[in-house]
Amino acid sequence: MVLNYAHRGSLTEAPENTLPAFQKAFNHGAKGIELDVQLTKDDHLVVCHNHTFSKYNKEVNGRIRDFTLEKIRQIDVGSNFSEAFKGVTLPTLEEVLEICPADVKVNVEIKNIPVIYPGIEERLLECLQRYNRLDNLLISSFDHVALEKVQQLAPSVELGMLFYYRILRAWEYAKNSGLNITSIHPNNVYTDQEFVESCKEHGFQVYPYTVNTVERYEELVDFGVNGVFSNSPEVFGK
Ligand code: G3P
Ligand code: CA
Repeated sequence: MVLNYAHRGSLTEAPENTLPAFQKAFNHGAKGIELDVQLTKDDHLVVCHNHTFSKYNKEVNGRIRDFTLEKIRQIDVGSNFSEAFKGVTLPTLEEVLEICPADVKVNVEIKNIPVIYPGIEERLLECLQRYNRLDNLLISSFDHVALEKVQQLAPSVELGMLFYYRILRAWEYAKNSGLNITSIHPNNVYTDQEFVESCKEHGFQVYPYTVNTVERYEELVDFGVNGVFSNSPEVFGK
């Protein structure tokens, strides 16, 4: 079975990583969503990809980390996408979990700046536990030390290892890491048949990111991937 994740929700139809974007993905029948988490100044988990506001509201200078949740709730991140989304703000992880159907798998990506987010792993697991979301869950990161910490805190949680660059024999690296990695998430641009087959021979599932054309999707499925991350759940949702 192929499982496709709606990358940051349905980001072509609504501002990425916001409640409307996730709601649209659910409406399209997405069986999985991907989202990025970061910490506010007062250590709340908010869902956001970039570390600064520049992409979301050009009038706001500074990093997500520089603002309290109260202040973040006053920052419009919708108008920059379209007037129809004026007033939309960054959601907390709690708010996304509240609207997420239980049968939709959640992939939480821990943004990889441990220096500015110390303790993010503990906060994340506490939140997921509170929402009874330790199942049907996959935690991933480019920061493999963050994955190690998650494993120490919650050994049964599924882990996905993200790779941005080509890594020699990434499957051996994953195996030798000592982590219980379930899946390898390579950059789609270098995912070829040999890569997919080698990962699978070593017991890993493979989910490349980010795949947005039907041609490439079909090619990857032929290679044997277990699913993809896609910006278009209306096409690749089910
Ligand atoms: O998790 C897949 C993908 O989201 C990783 O890259 O930069 O979109 O977070 P990025
Ligand atoms: Ca991501």
